[in-house]
Amino acid sequence: MKFRKALATEPCSLNQLEIVEAELGELHEGEIRVKMAYAPIRHSDLNHLSDNYGTASCYPFTPGGEGSGWVVESRHSAFSEGDLVIPLNRMEEGTWSEMWQASGDLFYKVQSISAKQAATLRINALSALLMLENYRGEGAVLVNAANSHIGFCLLTIAQEQSIPIVATVRNESSMAALQAEFPEATIRLDDREMIEEIQAFAQKTPINLALNAVGGESGFRQLNLLNKGGTQITYGGLSGSPTKTSASALIFKNLTIKGFWLQSELEKMTKTEVCQRLRTLEALDLKTPEVEWFTF
Ligand SMILES: NC(=O)c1ccc[n+]([C@@H]2O[C@H](COP(=O)([O-])OP(=O)(O)OC[C@H]3O[C@@H](n4cnc5c(N)ncnc54)[C@H](OP(=O)(O)O)[C@@H]3O)[C@@H](O)[C@H]2O)c1
Repeated sequence: MKFRKALATEPCSLNQLEIVEAELGELHEGEIRVKMAYAPIRHSDLNHLSDNYGTASCYPFTPGGEGSGWVVESRHSAFSEGDLVIPLNRMEEGTWSEMWQASGDLFYKVQSISAKQAATLRINALSALLMLENYRGEGAVLVNAANSHIGFCLLTIAQEQSIPIVATVRNESSMAALQAEFPEATIRLDDREMIEEIQAFAQKTPINLALNAVGGESGFRQLNLLNKGGTQITYGGLSGSPTKTSASALIFKNLTIKGFWLQSELEKMTKTEVCQRLRTLEALDLKTPEVEWFTF
């Protein structure tokens, strides 16, 4: 059976990708054949394409870290034709392809959400859930770039788990829409002026955990707002600038600064632990920002 897939043959941008025709091999015992439904274009996909990610890209390759699809043929006892599935981890062959074929053990069977929702469950939603597991049950969580897709996941989960959340965005234009979606969250513009306002909030509800997708000045402001003994987790660098640290914050507040990378978290977890969390996420009504859709 012939199908089309994207192919990066050298470091490139999205519009330099080739679309090539390929042929599926025989379906072996234990494998499933999946027709792609949706596959997101993620920041990490673009970094992989340009060979600017934390791990070296190995050309040629088909990009795409996640997605959802329908089983069209199965030789695995746990899957039947028509099941909606997502890959449990980054597949050898990426998801920007009309068809995927691999061992059924590498897939998760989606129970109750749409193919569109499922396509982004494994990376952003799971990352948000895992990062919030660092919340120790007291105080508030501070999140920047809160209008991002993962920001929406963090806000939905925090709301569901009754975690007080302070969310910052860089553009005033995104604030009203975000506040309407998440009425319980405290939403502020990410600038110098917000420091005093959030400090007033933190007098009553100390900020013990900060999740940093931006770096630069925004990450630095988070350090200033964290309570004594608090933790900042950096998981993205949207500003392209490194987060400054402050000697006094580290010395007198004894802050912990660490990173989060989903891939290395997944390596520590069993398949059952990952599936349990994906089930938890399916049960939430995860909200998403507006996105653009393209046909492959
Ligand atoms: N470490 C991990 O394992 C892991 C896992 C998942 C995601 N991530 C990272 O998380 C980040 C967000 O991913 P996503 O898929 O949720 O992104 P997204 O949906 O594309 O959203 C990015 C948002 O960030 C805002 N933004 C961009 N640059 C900014 C800046 N300099 N300061 C403040 N806001 C800025 C933009 O909003 P406006 O333009 O409207 O301001 C945009 O809405 C990315 O860096 C991604 O790589 C990391």
